[in-house]
Amino acid sequence: MTLSSERVLNTTLRERIMTAAEAAQFIQPGDQVGMSGFTGSGYPKQVPVELARIIDEANARGEDFRINVFTGASTGPELDGALAKAGGMQMRLPYQSDPEVRKRINSGDMHYLDIHLSHVAQLVNFGFLGKMDVAVIEVTAVLEDGRLIPSTSVGNNQTWLNQADRIILEVNSWQSMALEGMHDIYTEIPQPPKRIPIPIYRPAQRFGSPYFEVDLNKVVAVVPTDTPDRNSPFKEPDEASKRIAAHLLEFLTWEVRKGRLPKNLLPLQSGVGNIANAVLIGLQDAPFKGLTSYTEVIQDGMINLLKSGKLVSASATSFSLSPEMMQEMNANLASYRDRIILRSQEISNNPGIIRRLGVIAMNGMIEADIYGNVNSTHIMGSSIQNGIGGSGDFARNGYLTIFMSPSTAKNGSISSIVPMVSHVDHTEHDTQVLITEHGLADLRGLAPLLRARLIINNCASPEYKPLLLDYLNRAEKTSRGKHTPHMLQESLSWHTRFLETGTMMPA
Ligand code: COA
Repeated sequence: MTLSSERVLNTTLRERIMTAAEAAQFIQPGDQVGMSGFTGSGYPKQVPVELARIIDEANARGEDFRINVFTGASTGPELDGALAKAGGMQMRLPYQSDPEVRKRINSGDMHYLDIHLSHVAQLVNFGFLGKMDVAVIEVTAVLEDGRLIPSTSVGNNQTWLNQADRIILEVNSWQSMALEGMHDIYTEIPQPPKRIPIPIYRPAQRFGSPYFEVDLNKVVAVVPTDTPDRNSPFKEPDEASKRIAAHLLEFLTWEVRKGRLPKNLLPLQSGVGNIANAVLIGLQDAPFKGLTSYTEVIQDGMINLLKSGKLVSASATSFSLSPEMMQEMNANLASYRDRIILRSQEISNNPGIIRRLGVIAMNGMIEADIYGNVNSTHIMGSSIQNGIGGSGDFARNGYLTIFMSPSTAKNGSISSIVPMVSHVDHTEHDTQVLITEHGLADLRGLAPLLRARLIINNCASPEYKPLLLDYLNRAEKTSRGKHTPHMLQESLSWHTRFLETGTMMPA
């Protein structure tokens, strides 16, 4: 018996242990498949690879074998990468960050539904997205009574287990058994009109069970695996990120001084990437103590804050750690069990809870316009980068909603502050604070023209600032409406100029 099969204690499910190649046969062309996985954690690692091989063989025979893939969020090369390379995805939702998937979406070879992460489970439960045929879920172990110990992400797994006709489990012995007890799973949220308030009044509160529940009759295959999560290496923050983090920390300190935030702040939500890491590193030396987080992913910086005692608890749906930090965590996971809670993404990103707790939402962006509309997803208006992820869940409902970006991209040929964003994910009504390395614009209580002047003066890079002021001044004079002045024939000319000449800067 392998180490992995020792983790399957239920006798019925033990009889369904098979290879990934055998299990993949249960997935048919046209199926809607719900897979586990969130930011490179807890995704199935062998069945998708075997499925991609089956798809390749079908393609070689001239057959059309494509499926719709639903996940929690991004996964890893063995899932998104393999299926995209095989041309096996007809449609993907709700978030991705895989280069191969991105290429196929942007070349029009597959469809992508970029939706709020908190919406996914309920859209499926409402029946809006059709029937789920198969669930492929990575777990840490199967208990004697058939309940499942989740692995390093929760995502939409309980929903896939509830909704799918056929279930394939990957039991990954690489995942630490100390994960048992870290999760808080609500088996099924009642649907309207029977919905009741979700009883989370503090970020670290638990109200569910540590296990997934599954109808054993639906489990068609159990595949033992022993494969690491795809953890991305940690990048030291660059100079711009450090300056953005410094502006943010100064702002939070000011808000405490003004009595608008408590001394230990409010629960933090932090996006992923360079800037988010810089903010978390900056918090290590900041004067705040007793911090909490109610967020989507737990990064290295949060673990370091837990270690130093600055952060008392972290609630999320997934880990997103560097390989070194994951190794360390795997060895010491038990010591974090009472301070880390992993929840379903419809709870970690739940708009009602985010608003109730007063979460401070801090996310990256691609560009913002002079009025505060934010584009988080599309390059030059039409090419997807990753997706909206949870940024909308947090931005619309946060106590404070902050977006951050370097003021330029591609060596200064692109300004991240533009007259009009080329795609809108977060509207001017949601954005309260914008930060670049040059400064911070506190937009609260300001009408559009005042917002525009502040954003240009505080956030734009020096080379683009005069051009933005010139646009605003001329728009103010010539625009028919004076509330949010624009020159529509010119508002997107910065983007078209970049597409034509390779720079937003006029010749
Ligand atoms: N115009 C064109 N391209 C731009 C750009 C702009 N204004 N700003 C950035 N880019 C390009 C970068 O040059 C880079 O290109 P490359 O991959 O060819 O090098 C790419 O976009 C990513 O930029 P980078 O600076 O590395 O981004 P990041 O890691 O800080 O992430 C987002 C920024 C917006 C892409 C990322 O935060 C995201 O996907 N957000 C949406 C989801 C989200 O907020 N999730 C957290 C919620 S819990």
